[in-house]
Amino acid sequence: MISVKDNYGRTIDYMRISVTDRCNLRCRYCMPEDIPSISHDEILRFGEILKICRCAVSLGIRKFKVTGGEPLVRKGCLSFLRELKALSGVEQVTLTTNGVLLAPLIPELKAIGIDGINISLDTLDPDTFRQITGFDDFGKVWEGLMAAQTSGIRIKVNSVLLQGVNDQDFEKLTELAKDYPIDVRFIEIMPIGYGQQYRGYDRKTLLSRLAARYPDYHTVTQPRGNGPASYIAISGFRGCIGFIDAIHGKFCDTCNRIRLTSDGFLKPCLYYGESIDLKTPLRDGASEEQLCGLIRESILEKPACHQFWSPDTDAAREQRQMSQIGG
Ligand code: 5AD
Ligand code: SF4
Repeated sequence: MISVKDNYGRTIDYMRISVTDRCNLRCRYCMPEDIPSISHDEILRFGEILKICRCAVSLGIRKFKVTGGEPLVRKGCLSFLRELKALSGVEQVTLTTNGVLLAPLIPELKAIGIDGINISLDTLDPDTFRQITGFDDFGKVWEGLMAAQTSGIRIKVNSVLLQGVNDQDFEKLTELAKDYPIDVRFIEIMPIGYGQQYRGYDRKTLLSRLAARYPDYHTVTQPRGNGPASYIAISGFRGCIGFIDAIHGKFCDTCNRIRLTSDGFLKPCLYYGESIDLKTPLRDGASEEQLCGLIRESILEKPACHQFWSPDTDAAREQRQMSQIGG
C-alpha cells in the first residue's frame, strides 16, 4: 500500500479539512466576537476540496476529518461528506461539530456511513454553556448528542477545561462516559488566537483529580482513534476518558496529520504559520500531478515539533485563529 513519510519518518495518513471559518457559536477561547470571515470567493469550493482529497489519497492519506469553524453551517456539507466517503481509497471520514445543528441530520449522516462524530461540549450546565459560547443552545447540542449516540455512530465528546470558567464541570463531563457509550476527551487549551487568554489543565492534574474518585482506573494501552489522545478506562464506564495533552505532553513524534484551511492552504503543523497555497495553482489549472507534488512538498516541510514554550519562534507562529484552522 502506498504511504507517505515526512522528513522525520512519520507516516502521514490523516488530513483535517476545515470547510468553513464561520461558526454559529462564539466560544470565548476561539471566536468570542464576530471576526471578519473569509469571503466566499476565497473559500475552496467542495469540488476543489475533493480534487485535493483525490491527490491526498493517491499519496497515502486515507483518513479525513471534516471540521470548521462549524462545518454544518456550510450549505452542502452533507453532500460533500457523501462524496468524500465515496472516493476510492478513502478509509475513514469523520466530522467535528459543536452539535447545535446535528440532531435532525443524524439519519442522513448514518446513511452516508460517517465513521465517527466528535462533538465539542465544554459543560453540561446550560448557564455555563451560554457563558462559554454566547448562545442558549445547550438543549440543541444535548439533543444532537443523544440522537448521535443512539444511532450507533461512534461518538466522542471533546471538552476544553478553562481555569475559573468550567473547572466544576470536569466530573460531570467524565460521567457522560459512564452513562453512554461515548469517549470523553479533555483537550488542553492551546495558546493560539484567543486561547492565549486562558489557562487550562494538563493531563497530570486532571488524572489525579479523577484518581481520587476512581482509584481503580487503568491506562488503555491499545491505540484508540487516529489522534494523540491517551486514554484511561474506569470500571463500570461504557466509554473511555481521553486526554489530549497538547502542550505539556508533546506528542509531535507520532504526529500523522496535515491540515487544509477553508481558503485552500495546506498546513503541515498547527503551531507554525507556514502553509502552502493550493488554491492559486488549483484555480490556475494545475494538473493532479502538480497538486500531488505540492502536497508532498508540504509534508516534507513538516517541522519536527511545535514550540509553544519558546519565545524564540514567535515570528514563525501561526497568526490565524483556531476557527480558521479547524483545531
Ligand atoms: N486550544 C485547544 N482546543 C481548542 N479548540 C478551539 N480552540 C482551541 C484552543 N485554543 C477546540 C474546540 C473544539 C475543537 C475543534 O478545537 O473546543 O473542540
Ligand atoms: Fe465555534 Fe468551535 Fe470555535 Fe466554539 S470552538 S466558536 S463552536 S469553532
